[in-house]
Amino acid sequence: MRTQYYTAASLDGFIATADDSLEWLFPLGDVNETSYPQFIQEVGALAMGSATYEWMLRHVIKPDSDAPGQWPYDQPAWVFSHRELPGIPGADIRFVQGDVRPVHDQMRAAANGRNVWLVGGGGLVGQFYDAGLLDDILVQVGSVTLGSGKPLLPRQITSPSLRLVSVRQFGPGFAELRYEVPPLTKA
Ligand SMILES: NC(=O)c1ccc[n+]([C@@H]2O[C@H](COP(=O)([O-])OP(=O)(O)OC[C@H]3O[C@@H](n4cnc5c(N)ncnc54)[C@H](OP(=O)(O)O)[C@@H]3O)[C@@H](O)[C@H]2O)c1
Repeated sequence: MRTQYYTAASLDGFIATADDSLEWLFPLGDVNETSYPQFIQEVGALAMGSATYEWMLRHVIKPDSDAPGQWPYDQPAWVFSHRELPGIPGADIRFVQGDVRPVHDQMRAAANGRNVWLVGGGGLVGQFYDAGLLDDILVQVGSVTLGSGKPLLPRQITSPSLRLVSVRQFGPGFAELRYEVPPLTKA
């Protein structure tokens, strides 16, 4: 069981533009031709911050449309927010706030041996890192630069550094980098 930050980022380290656009991401490749289908099979619980959840609401669910979209995850999901956010009918979503450690305990229990996926954003993943709970970082580095935006991981992790465990290419659009977060860094 690993706690993994799996995401896509621009070459210059942003996971979204400052106004939460992902328009740059989708032309880069088909998600089904990346490692995602295999990755998601091994996920037992997932967590995201409110900006990511609200992006899903706006772009995937569209609750006010005639034919609202479906929540794409079978696994239980934890959404971090200090605000009251709308749920999604039929989706197993638990709204939480504050310390990530008790939430991680709940996620591990629910994951039942499978991995915990930290969807993002970077600030929330940073809180798991600060608590020593982040095991791996799996980044699909997209062949674009954004210049500014929402950061991949706003933390300084230098000594010891992350451990690069694999590099894979997915077409001209993505280089996938997999890192382990060393135990010493996690303390
Ligand atoms: N490129 C990709 O593959 C990828 C992956 C994931 C996300 N994204 C995108 O990247 C952007 C991420 O946005 P973001 O960096 O702003 O991050 P985010 O983690 O989605 O949202 C941050 C917000 O979550 C809430 N929050 C965070 N930690 C909390 C805690 N411990 N307790 C309670 N609330 C907490 C806070 O808002 P409130 O308290 O005000 O609710 C905070 O402002 C989104 O646009 C998303 O769609 C891209």
